[in-house]
Amino acid sequence: MIVTTKQLFEQAYGKYALGAYNINNAEQTMGLFRGNLQSRAPFILQISKGARSYTNKLMLEAMIRAANEIFPEAVFAVHLDHGDEETCYDCIDSGFYSSVMIDASHEPFEENIAITKRVVERAHAKGVSVEAELGQLGGVEEDISVDEEKARLTDPEQAAEFIERTGCDSLACAIGTSHGAFKFSGKQGLHFEVIEAIQKLVPGFPLVLHGSSSVPQEEIDRINAAGGALKGAKGVDPAQYLPAARLGVCKINIDTDGRLVWTRVHREFFRDHPEVYDFRPIGKIFMEEYAKFIASRNELLGSAGRLDEVRAALSK
Ligand code: G3H
Ligand code: 13P
Ligand code: ZN
Repeated sequence: MIVTTKQLFEQAYGKYALGAYNINNAEQTMGLFRGNLQSRAPFILQISKGARSYTNKLMLEAMIRAANEIFPEAVFAVHLDHGDEETCYDCIDSGFYSSVMIDASHEPFEENIAITKRVVERAHAKGVSVEAELGQLGGVEEDISVDEEKARLTDPEQAAEFIERTGCDSLACAIGTSHGAFKFSGKQGLHFEVIEAIQKLVPGFPLVLHGSSSVPQEEIDRINAAGGALKGAKGVDPAQYLPAARLGVCKINIDTDGRLVWTRVHREFFRDHPEVYDFRPIGKIFMEEYAKFIASRNELLGSAGRLDEVRAALSK
């Protein structure tokens, strides 16, 4: 059942976070739905611009519609991840998306507000909610000074003004995470005080964490042992998911970890079965492993076991 992101946030706020997982192909989609049902979790399925053009946006939509029929118990929202203005309008007008993210965080504050406001107006007219972003997600930089790091984080006062002036429905804030498998090189960490300060200024407002993959060391070791070269990869401690959720983070984005599962499965399989050239045996293993991974993340996010209560609340 495709529901609105807003409905899911209302159920989750302050208690748990929804896993927001990216999809690109059929195997990932099957693993995602299976893992969420195995762990009885509602979830957010998200699609990036790159995913929309990898095969075709219509192919992705058709896969999601099919999954919705194959897994009638699933409760999820469909979200555009890191959209620009044009892609947001395309998704809003398609009538298929529950929510869009307008990512104008690289623009100056006033320009970010102007762009986000335009998207919010078009989205709300069609019942679609909008995630916006303020602040900059960092990359790995060993010698960044404390002041430089702080300057990239979301400023709570600005966040409150941004939310008020744009009318956005949720806000992705920069608290020290970054995209990809190399998030920290040393002393950097997460700045929960930023979330707390925003919540004090705008109580009850749903926040979003990007760049939240945990980059499990065991996964990295297995990939490297099977010929990979991901030395020094490091992610977010997944034990931080639930404390973040309790502070008002409703959506936690996890994509890189799924790519790592894919990489480990494929590297090990081809190392161990050099004679195989059928893609289905390996595809089956990936779907199973990805489902297991999704279920394990939902346990840490606190969304596992919530499916029935959410379904009951949304069918009232
Ligand atoms: O933050 C971006 C997501 O991991 C999606 O990545 O744009 O390569 O599809 P992508
Ligand atoms: P990761 O690269 O940490 O998985 O972050 C994904 C993300 O933020 C998608 O928008
Ligand atoms: Zn992101």
